[in-house]
Parts: sequence; C-alpha cells; structure tokens
Amino acid sequence: MFSLSEEGVAFVKRELNRYEDRRSAVIPALYRVQKENKGWVSPESVTYLSHLMDIPSAWIEEVLTFYTMFNKRPVGKYHVQVCCNISCSMNGGREMADHLCSTLKLKEDEVSGDGRYTISRVECLGACDKAPMMQVNDDYHEGLTNDKAVEILRGLK
Ligand code: FES
Repeated sequence: MFSLSEEGVAFVKRELNRYEDRRSAVIPALYRVQKENKGWVSPESVTYLSHLMDIPSAWIEEVLTFYTMFNKRPVGKYHVQVCCNISCSMNGGREMADHLCSTLKLKEDEVSGDGRYTISRVECLGACDKAPMMQVNDDYHEGLTNDKAVEILRGLK
C-alpha cells in the first residue's frame, strides 16, 4: 500500500491549509507523490491522497489526467523528456528522441530492462532558444547534438 513519508504528509497538510479551496492543493500534492513514488502516480496513491486530503478521488484524477507532467505509469530512474515542439523539432529534437531510443534499444515511454531510462517525447519545455533540449528528471540539458545527449545519459550514475 502506498503511503507518503511523514514529511510528505506534513507537506500536503500545509498545502491544504494554504488555500481556501482544497482543490488548489492537488497539484503540489501530486508532485510530492510522484517524487516519493519513483516518478509516477499510481492508482493506489490517488486513493491514498483522496483520503489524506478528504476530497473525492475524481478531483485528483481529473488533474492527474489533464497535465502531462504527471506520469501515470512507471518510469525509469532517469526520465528523459525530449522536447519535440517546433523550435526543438526544427533543430533535430525528433531525430534526437529516435536516436536515444535506438541507442538505448527501447521504445518511447517504456522502462529500459535495467530500470535506468525512460525516453518520452514532450511538448515545449520553455527553453526554445536553446533547442534542441531535453529534461532528465529535474535537470535541463540544452543546445544538444545526438552524440552529446547520449554522452549525458551514459554519464549518469
Ligand atoms: S520548443 Fe523545445 S523548449 Fe520550446
């Protein structure tokens, strides 16, 4: 059964007290759950949050399914999000996503056999002037080439 750490529970309770409407705490709560649940939000963690926050699980589900920054299935230790929006695409972002998948021998959005990587195509990450770019967990890597992107991933501990 999923549960948050003591710090996670305290965080969610602080967020609930911060807003007049309990719904406003859903996004920060989901972020916290994702961080503590290996990068994704499982169905059981939605049920857990629903009880903790005393709100219907449907309110959580609607936020979870609307925003793409929440992962609805497991991801690797390193979730590699390759921007494939216009600036990045014009500078090789789509080809870079393909290159990473073929180099690491995995399909988009699947977890590699060793559990280290998931490669996903995403929309604009707001670093268009540094295209092409990718986000690995919380870190941005900009102005990439295919080789440089592979080198970054291979260098992760
Ligand atoms: S188009 Fe890639 S960061 Fe904006």
